[in-house]
Amino acid sequence: MSQTQRESRVSNAPKDVRVFNLTKVYHGAAGRNVAAVNDVSLDIAPGTLVTLLGPSGCGKTTVLRMIAGFETPTSGSIHIGDRMVNNVPPNRRDLAMVFQSYALFPHMSVFENVAYGLRMRRLPQSEVQRRVWAMMEMMHLEGCEERAPNQLSGGQQQRVALARALVVEPSVLLLDEPLSNLDAKLRIYMRDEIRSLQQRLGITAIYVTHDQQEALSLSDRVVVINRGRVEQVGTPQEIYQRPNTEFVATFVGTANFLQGSVLAQHGEEVAVRVMDQHLTVPSEHRWQLGEPVMLLVRPEAIHLGREDETFTGIVRRVSFLGASVEYQVEVGGNLLNAVEPAQVSTPLYSVEDRVSLNLEHSSLHLLPASDHNAAFEPATLLRPAVG
Ligand SMILES: Nc1ncnc2c1ncn2[C@@H]1O[C@H](COP(=O)(O)OP(=O)(O)OP(=O)(O)O)[C@@H](O)[C@H]1O
Ligand SMILES: [Mg+2]
Repeated sequence: MSQTQRESRVSNAPKDVRVFNLTKVYHGAAGRNVAAVNDVSLDIAPGTLVTLLGPSGCGKTTVLRMIAGFETPTSGSIHIGDRMVNNVPPNRRDLAMVFQSYALFPHMSVFENVAYGLRMRRLPQSEVQRRVWAMMEMMHLEGCEERAPNQLSGGQQQRVALARALVVEPSVLLLDEPLSNLDAKLRIYMRDEIRSLQQRLGITAIYVTHDQQEALSLSDRVVVINRGRVEQVGTPQEIYQRPNTEFVATFVGTANFLQGSVLAQHGEEVAVRVMDQHLTVPSEHRWQLGEPVMLLVRPEAIHLGREDETFTGIVRRVSFLGASVEYQVEVGGNLLNAVEPAQVSTPLYSVEDRVSLNLEHSSLHLLPASDHNAAFEPATLLRPAVG
């Protein structure tokens, strides 16, 4: 097989993506250097979908662009399969990318935009047609084939960008907020389509989003990024139920925090004093006696009742959401968020009602109190540039 033939072949063997100590420093105006990405290491198994989740400006796009080869790392290395690709141009990395800004070819029709990667790989015309039509159908773009990108809505353009990347069935697929412009229903439909296609073809996918629901529902693993650094890597359940830091706990889901201190530890059960009461909390971590801690209680782990439980409080706000009801309950000077499924038989509490709070033991989680991560700060500022 010649070099050209090898490169024109559509390759879809799953490959792992490994990134070691990746850093990108931008030299900004006013002599300030910004570490957009700061010492990030990732190990992404072949055929899995990993999301990079974090607030705007935390460095998600920069990580993706370095993996794709559109941005040169300041330091660190990138490996795709068994190749170190730092010096390999983007079109030789056997990956496809959906850009946050779509980056469609303006002078080409929708059909030609989607067909582009297949033509580059010199597939026969019948194969190109078959695959492009299948993509148009999957993306609900039938009838748009002959239009130019500027004759499409934002959501349609986003779907063309997605089709253009998926159609080549790359070994590695990079997706930068690919569904941000779609309405809620279409977003869920497309999310499911991307996931099933990725699993069916065994593509390794890196999916950037700031939407925690999307990250939790789609991913094999989630990488939470804050100010250019990896804050935690784990399965969706680990990230949600056992966050390592206050930042992860508040960025993913709704978090109630209660200040407390450690009274005793017996194996993986920790006795803590919280709001003048004693509670036991499961924890694998070793704690010091007397150590200040933060107790994380998710809203669905609080069960409201009329009985005399350990904690009682006053309902301050009630929001009916259809399938569930959200309550804000004031307990010992704290406002806690609780959520109950809205069944017909559920007693609906009203503002000013006195209620008891039963905290579900297995859902409680302890964090060190000293961890004060300023939650939504921009990228770390490094030393000012000289001159
Ligand atoms: N070319 C550039 N020159 C200077 N600074 C840049 C450049 N590109 C990005 N940055 C800065 O690097 C940081 C990370 O940007 P990046 O686009 O990676 O964030 P992001 O997580 O993708 O955000 P968003 O969710 O808003 O897309 C930001 O502070 C951004 O302003
Ligand atoms: Mg971005």
